[in-house]
Amino acid sequence: MKKNNNRLDSNIKRIARLDRYVRPDKVEGAIKLDSNENFALDGEFVRSAAEQAARQVDLREYPLDQLDQLYAQLAKYTGIGERCIAAGSGSDQIIELILSTLGGRRATVFSPTFSYLINRCELHGINVDRVPLERDFELNRQAFVKSAKKSDLVYICSPNNPTGNQFDRQTVMDILDSLDGRLVLIDEAYVDFADYSLSADAIKRDNVVVLRTLSKAFGLAGARVGYMVASEKFVQVFRSTMQSPYPISVLSLAIASGVLARADHVRKTIEMIRSERSRVIGRLSKITGIKAFRSDANFIFIETGKSYQIISKALGSNGIVVKMLDNLAGHRGCMRVTIGMREMNDRFLQSIEGVL
Ligand SMILES: Cc1ncc(COP(=O)(O)O)c(C=O)c1O
Repeated sequence: MKKNNNRLDSNIKRIARLDRYVRPDKVEGAIKLDSNENFALDGEFVRSAAEQAARQVDLREYPLDQLDQLYAQLAKYTGIGERCIAAGSGSDQIIELILSTLGGRRATVFSPTFSYLINRCELHGINVDRVPLERDFELNRQAFVKSAKKSDLVYICSPNNPTGNQFDRQTVMDILDSLDGRLVLIDEAYVDFADYSLSADAIKRDNVVVLRTLSKAFGLAGARVGYMVASEKFVQVFRSTMQSPYPISVLSLAIASGVLARADHVRKTIEMIRSERSRVIGRLSKITGIKAFRSDANFIFIETGKSYQIISKALGSNGIVVKMLDNLAGHRGCMRVTIGMREMNDRFLQSIEGVL
């Protein structure tokens, strides 16, 4: 008995020491550019989908056919057959299920990347090998493949969080070609803002899973709806055995369906964000001492060098919250900034321009 207690104790201590995701503080009334949510999609649009959903659903029932409706709508939006799509409570939950069932003992990621994935690997006892990105955030393909060949799981975030870039498509395809049989997770949480998705390639391979979400482009971070695109074989096992029977509430499913039915409207806001992204990067590149990196996502990565503290103070006093990354991957004074509505972006730009 004592021995078991000791084991439990040391396991809890091991877990308590792990790095973890820290939820950002809520700053009342702030211009929120820290979590890559979509505020270009107006609040009223999402609210009315939620109100309509609340009137439609019967919360006394477990969700039954609503998931099928979601799959049909996602199939229409992505152009992928519905039998190759499976949903989860945010893509976070899908990641969790995959790591806990198929994660194996060793994972390869490039670095920096989505830290949640690394934290969860460590929680599940999966050793993570981090292959550093080049200074311009391009990938050293040879080094990555060398590590990946020794791993059970390979994670490619595309576009990458926090750097914002997607690698050249052929580079990723070459990596997939050299990793037959190893599980490759391609995290496309931000793909709706990018130039290409690998969804159509993933369904032809049994070892590649693309993760997508309605949290970003579709403005539904609070509803927790994510999905995967994979081969029919993988998806059927995931849906029937790996996933829990009712992963998403009826309310969230109905809200997701309402918003997906207006995908045309969402596409317009995506175009707006892409154009704002170019404008913001263009304006920042005119400021001496600031480097704004190319982005394929709804956020940008900037290096502010020795102006980090001044800018941080200016943003704080103007009620603007961004993700502060400090020194990262050989770059000094880094920040990740969500692209919001034009007025929000202007407030951000003016805060920096006002102090430099
Ligand atoms: C790269 C990446 N993957 C996955 C997620 C999680 O998305 P979801 O809200 O679908 O769980 C995020 C959220 O920030 C992300 O940045």
